Amino acid sequence: TLRICVYGIAEENDKHPCMTSDSKEHWRLFQLEPELVFLFHYNSAEFSDVQECLSSTEFMDHIRKVMTVIDAAVVNLDSLSSLDEYLTNLGRKHRAVGVKLESFKTVGESLLFALESGLGDAFTPDARDAWSQLYSSVVRRMSRGWCR
Ligand code: HEM
Repeated sequence: TLRICVYGIAEENDKHPCMTSDSKEHWRLFQLEPELVFLFHYNSAEFSDVQECLSSTEFMDHIRKVMTVIDAAVVNLDSLSSLDEYLTNLGRKHRAVGVKLESFKTVGESLLFALESGLGDAFTPDARDAWSQLYSSVVRRMSRGWCR
């Protein structure tokens, strides 16, 4: 069985992929846009490479933060506008740390990649479409943080 993370996949009983030296292929986000690693810096220190970033507890915490937001969107699917203010503010915070709007697409592609890799045939075109729409709705709301 596979465990799905937002940025990649890992075997159920394996160590977390960030802990293994041959894990890079699991981490779609940085394959697609390696320079994103430089936006994650904690205590004013930039990571020197992707592996260092993947090994950090702060980056793992960020993955949990992303998944918490996705989970909240799923739970509030019928009333996504209740998350408007939160997501606009979240977008504003990302703009402030130097994230470009286009980079959210890379996270979306990584999410779909992880789901597809983990679910295989069960990830039907309809399921893909539904996840894609959900993620786009989140990003649309976050992108308001670039206007106001
Ligand atoms: C916070 C970077 C995408 C959710 C942060 C922080 C950074 C960051 C540097 C502040 C430090 C931290 O809390 O770890 C990025 C980059 C992204 C990205 C480079 C790629 C484009 C996302 C996405 C979501 C998200 C797609 C949710 C759908 C969050 C949350 C926080 C956060 C919930 C905490 C905000 C707070 O403290 O109030 N992000 N992020 N991030 N990010 Fe992201």
